[in-house]
Amino acid sequence: MDLLDILILVFTALLLCLWWRYSSTNVAKNLPPGPRGWPLVGNLAQVILQRRAFIFVVRDLRKKYGPIFTMQMGQRKLVIVTSSELIHEALVKRGPQFATRPPDSPIRLIFSVGKCAINSAMYGPLWRTLRRNFANELVNPMRIRQCGWIRRWAMENHMERLRREALEKGFVEVMSNCRLTICSILICLCFGAKISEDQIKNIESVLKEVMLMTAPNIPDFFPILTPIFTRQLRAAKDLRKQQMDCLVPLIQARKAFLEDSSGGGGDIEMASPVGAAYVDSLLALKPPGREGDCLGEEELVTLCSEVISAGTDTSATTLEWALLHLVQEQEIQEKLYKEIVGRAGRNGPITEEDVENMAYLGAVVKETFRRHPPSHFLLSHAVTEETELGGYTIPADANVEFYTAWVTEDPALWKGPDEFRPDRFLDGDGVDADVTGAKGVRMLPFGAGRRICPGMTLGTLHVHLMLARMVQAFKWFPVPDDPPDPTETFAFTVVMKNPLKAVIVPRFSCR
Ligand code: HEM
Repeated sequence: MDLLDILILVFTALLLCLWWRYSSTNVAKNLPPGPRGWPLVGNLAQVILQRRAFIFVVRDLRKKYGPIFTMQMGQRKLVIVTSSELIHEALVKRGPQFATRPPDSPIRLIFSVGKCAINSAMYGPLWRTLRRNFANELVNPMRIRQCGWIRRWAMENHMERLRREALEKGFVEVMSNCRLTICSILICLCFGAKISEDQIKNIESVLKEVMLMTAPNIPDFFPILTPIFTRQLRAAKDLRKQQMDCLVPLIQARKAFLEDSSGGGGDIEMASPVGAAYVDSLLALKPPGREGDCLGEEELVTLCSEVISAGTDTSATTLEWALLHLVQEQEIQEKLYKEIVGRAGRNGPITEEDVENMAYLGAVVKETFRRHPPSHFLLSHAVTEETELGGYTIPADANVEFYTAWVTEDPALWKGPDEFRPDRFLDGDGVDADVTGAKGVRMLPFGAGRRICPGMTLGTLHVHLMLARMVQAFKWFPVPDDPPDPTETFAFTVVMKNPLKAVIVPRFSCR
């Protein structure tokens, strides 16, 4: 540490003292209750010292402080909302007020190119334009149908890879295979390109690193200290360069293909017709509030990465938890298998229409979303101006964090919430549960209101199709000497700490 660093440290400590005195007087401002923090760092040190993921700390604090509480994390104030009624009031009844996002850390700003992504844009014209484009161009029912071939192509590769891995190792790794397949679908939806498995793996691993680097960290809680986080900033810029290096060639190939659809694209095979790839719509978009007329390569990389990242881990996590229960509870697996065979035959293709009509499959997936919501929090929200919730003040500069996992664990809302019982969605306490939260909040795997996941239909389709195909083709068992361990850990989504391995036995040998 040189003299300049020391001066910066002393100066920032002084500023922090001033800020602390200022924010202590804020406590009188009717904020929700919360654990008492330490000077300067607030509750941040307590969280760090616990050496556990934030979700586990919040789980305990909820028991003590109830439906709404405050945590002071360094410079940032977090209001944590946990009850069904308050979540519904904020996200649905008063949706627009709670629909914006808090400021990004300098590291996140590098990856979001100044908040030019649907998930990070402030509630306003830029967000509206990007989100409308996503809804019209990527996930409208016609486009989903048009791109059905991408899912069929990726599923064939998936089944072949599972067969190969089972032969080589005697078991398959569920998460890594599902991630790779979903990632390949989303890359093809974004760029219209069929690329090699090695290229897909490279993109997948770079984007995973981006997600880990942009997960909340010290610089988020002490933006004032940004000048001394030079090492992290440098690492973020290096990673951003890697992200650009692996995605820009796909954008350039697509541009060439759009200009000359008979020969453009170069070495990269452009498989989607002109207009069918997400990036085609982004190239024509003129969003308000951005410099220049159109989106540049930086923004295009950010917007396509967002789709790939948002849709990969969430769906793969769901598949891993669903298969955990199917290997552990063979009678559920058999009931599901019977439904699949009843609809598609032992060896027949499973269409997207088929899965829409499989009630038990829908129930297994909903029960997985309920029992293992991929994310225990929504993305951070913020209010557009100071307001009130549950009788407390919500300041305009606070992060509002919706801890949605609690509503699916609440015994007042669910019978036997710890049990995995898909049937509850057919003729039990889950029949009326609305996953969008519009009519009331009992489970919110996709959020609710203005910021509800716009990829909900597509993500659910991926999960339904892959689960149905995997159960139709194989019988799934635990690995005898390595039984599954349901311990959770946090890795962007809440995943199995020890990834699920399963033995698969072909159900129908001619397939
Ligand atoms: C099982 C699959 C999925 C789950 C469980 C899921 C869950 C979520 C959740 C909880 C949010 C945050 C909502 C909030 O902050 O209030 C979200 C936002 C988002 N998701 Fe998904 N998602 C899934 C699949 C997808 C897919 C496949 C895509 C893209 C193709 C996608 C794109 C997005 C985007 C762009 C946002 C930001 C929305 C906004 O801020 O307006 N998601 N998702």
